[in-house]
Amino acid sequence: MNIDVFTLFPDSFAWFNSQHHVRNAQELGHRVEAIDYRDSTTLTGRQVDDTPFGGGAGMVLRVDVVESALRDRYGNDPADRLPGRRVIALTPGGRVLDETLVEELSDSSDLTLLCGRYEGFDERIIEHFCTDQISLGRFVLAGGEIPAMAVCDAVLRKLPGVLGHADSAVEESFSAALDGQPEYPHYTRPAVWRDWAVPEILLSGDHGRIEAWRRAESQARGAANNSPDDG
Ligand SMILES: C[S@@+](CC[C@H](N)C(=O)[O-])C[C@H]1O[C@@H](n2cnc3c(N)ncnc32)[C@H](O)[C@@H]1O
Repeated sequence: MNIDVFTLFPDSFAWFNSQHHVRNAQELGHRVEAIDYRDSTTLTGRQVDDTPFGGGAGMVLRVDVVESALRDRYGNDPADRLPGRRVIALTPGGRVLDETLVEELSDSSDLTLLCGRYEGFDERIIEHFCTDQISLGRFVLAGGEIPAMAVCDAVLRKLPGVLGHADSAVEESFSAALDGQPEYPHYTRPAVWRDWAVPEILLSGDHGRIEAWRRAESQARGAANNSPDDG
């Protein structure tokens, strides 16, 4: 999978790219590259944004700047979508990232993620260049870099061989193995800390009963999270 992340802060991806599972992904031939919008802007002083028409606070990322960045990268008119490439704007109001969307994205071969900053994108970027808008949740962050990393992280760990332990991704929260429910609780040594004891059953060595207990805990967590009391 090739993931291109367009950003005003490419250096912020250095930490992300140094993470163990991301390096594993890269060794397996996958790629995450951060590209600076400023590198291809034709405006003087590496300008990328401007004040909003109609007034208001903040600066808006310009459509000509994003077009030039996408043209430079892909060699085509970004209004003509490239087959197989999803071009995703990170926006607070987009489709909220969840397990279904992560599964869907992990089947793609090429992803482009556009990070906004300040007041966000000129709407024509979203309308003419993007196939999707993705939100990390219904709150506002300062920029699209953290949402982009969240997308990359969630998607890369779905790819075969990226996680050291293949089993880790099979039975985890929201997986089919757990019927889409949250994962059950985990415990490790010490078996008793202060007066907090690990559930007896986990020390029993009875794998059948442990499995059944874990299933029940997972279902109960799912039911608790969906209870009407949560609003
Ligand atoms: C300060 S925000 C702009 C918020 C925008 N004016 C609004 O009210 O929706 C700057 C950028 O951060 C990113 N961003 C902020 N919150 C986000 C979220 N919850 N999910 C995805 N991206 C987000 C987007 O790329 C956005 O363009």
